[in-house]
Amino acid sequence: MKCILQVRLILVLSVLINGDLKAQSQTNERAQWFVDARFGMFIHWGVYSGAEGIWKGEKLRNDNDYAEWIYYRNRIDREEYLTLLDRFDWASIDPEEWVLLAKRSGMKYVTLTAKHHDGFGLWDSEVSDYDVADHTSPKRDIVEELAEACRKHGLKLGLYYSHWVDWEHEFGWDHTKEIYKITPEQYDQYWQEKVMPQMRELLTNYGPIGMMWFDMWIHHSNTIVTKDQLMQLKSLIRELQLDCLVNSRLGLSIEEDSDVDFRTLGDNQLGTGKLEYPWQSPATVAHSWGYHTLDTEWKSTTTLLKSLINNVSLNGNFMLNIGPKSNGDVPYEISQRMLEMGDWLKVNGESVYGAEAFDLRSDLHDWGKITYGTEADGKHKIYLHVFNWPYNNRLSVTGIATAPRGAYVLGDKLQSPLRFWHNEVLTEIDLSSLQPDPYISVIVLVFDQKPGIVDGLVARTRDGGYSLVPGNTISEEGERTLRSQDRGGTVPAHIMVRGKYQAKWKIFVDEPGNMKVDASYSFQGLKTAGNLSIKAANSTLRHDILPTGKTVGEPNQNWQIDNYRSHRIGTINFPEKGIYEITLEVEAEMDNPVNFQWLWLEAED
Ligand code: GLC
Repeated sequence: MKCILQVRLILVLSVLINGDLKAQSQTNERAQWFVDARFGMFIHWGVYSGAEGIWKGEKLRNDNDYAEWIYYRNRIDREEYLTLLDRFDWASIDPEEWVLLAKRSGMKYVTLTAKHHDGFGLWDSEVSDYDVADHTSPKRDIVEELAEACRKHGLKLGLYYSHWVDWEHEFGWDHTKEIYKITPEQYDQYWQEKVMPQMRELLTNYGPIGMMWFDMWIHHSNTIVTKDQLMQLKSLIRELQLDCLVNSRLGLSIEEDSDVDFRTLGDNQLGTGKLEYPWQSPATVAHSWGYHTLDTEWKSTTTLLKSLINNVSLNGNFMLNIGPKSNGDVPYEISQRMLEMGDWLKVNGESVYGAEAFDLRSDLHDWGKITYGTEADGKHKIYLHVFNWPYNNRLSVTGIATAPRGAYVLGDKLQSPLRFWHNEVLTEIDLSSLQPDPYISVIVLVFDQKPGIVDGLVARTRDGGYSLVPGNTISEEGERTLRSQDRGGTVPAHIMVRGKYQAKWKIFVDEPGNMKVDASYSFQGLKTAGNLSIKAANSTLRHDILPTGKTVGEPNQNWQIDNYRSHRIGTINFPEKGIYEITLEVEAEMDNPVNFQWLWLEAED
């Protein structure tokens, strides 16, 4: 009996420990591979790739230059659209090349537009002759070719299927039907005779499908699709392929239906907060998804890596798009950047694959982002991704309460130890012996157990000061209106205070001494009115609110804006090292609001 109890205890404990390690608590088993994968390839390729964003000499009719929308935007005829296929060089089109590029770039899955909004299938569909097999000789089946290449090279296969929008089917949804209307019965005819049978084909004929990627970016209640139709579609997936993931652009959010496996954010929308369920950002290297010859604003490799790392630091995934040309070639600007990402990941992948969000707020540090990972040998690692190299070669991390056992550069095979100092909750690393990585350097902090944290501290900035803003308080009291930046950023984000307002922050002071305290605000009253006080370490500083006047945002455009000015409030002595609370109290007249922006604390020389 005792023995059984012990076994049970061990089981319970190991579940607890595992539960603890997998911070992303709302990940179902099916989606675990996706969470670990972190990085995937999106492939937008279809008839539109032949147009390259131009039709009969005219550029795509929309400022949002999505080349795959040319059929709809430029009002192209259903049959004439297919003449674009004459431009395709079928002999040179080889989906295995895309898979190889994905693999060399460190991506773990690919998602192909099996059917985009134009309704044209990239497989041999019995359901419709608006498909690639009916327009190629010898017949091509791109889904099959890609599926085979994925199997061969060990990548998961995802399929994009535009279920809601279909421009070629008489009763599929296209936005013109907002004017000309169709009945729910007609739409259901499209659904039952095209969507359902095509989905059955895709889920039956091509082996295991890692994910079905749907693309309805509005909620079903705002359009013609019914929840029943979406459920019918999801049931079919669950019936035919138990392990296939479904994304939230099915038209159902995870909150509405927890059986949806992951959330897809908006196009090129990166994560801003840690989520407990799996999620992903679809992104492009320039702007368009389909190949667009006029689309040339390429993001840099560093920018793309930062996006990937940003998402991993919040438990997210990043799916980066290629829009191959009509001969199958991937634009050089895309493949070159992806391969550079792959080279970086070969060295630094440990901080991305299988890594996850750490417990500290992700936007705490101005030098970059943190991810966290554990290893089979029991090591716990914190990965510091240095986006902005500190000019004084000293990297400071605020909030980790456990002293690291060691620190080294991830790319350094010898793991040569870096000098560091750990002071209660401040870890400082000496980077002076290092050359920054041309893209992003990763510093590893090693621990024997999951490091403890002190949450809610304001991190020391790269300049050595503390920036106390409405976004990093530990508490607030009183009325205030949050105002985001305005007029192209010339008016900074601030809070408007009428009457009384109080905010508190927490900082860690590592060296006793005096700190200068500055406050930035705008006050449009004509004479001094109201006051603010700052309390910390048993001292109080008071300040009468002064008029700050106006300034000009841009010349000759009648662009007058309120002036935000930094005021020296005084000096506070912090007698010993430790965590201190800083309290700000504002008293403003009801009809003369104060617009508070920030406090800045900095050690006196
Ligand atoms: C949008 C567009 C589509 C593109 C997709 C990628 O939904 O309609 O063209 O495929 O975003 O995320």
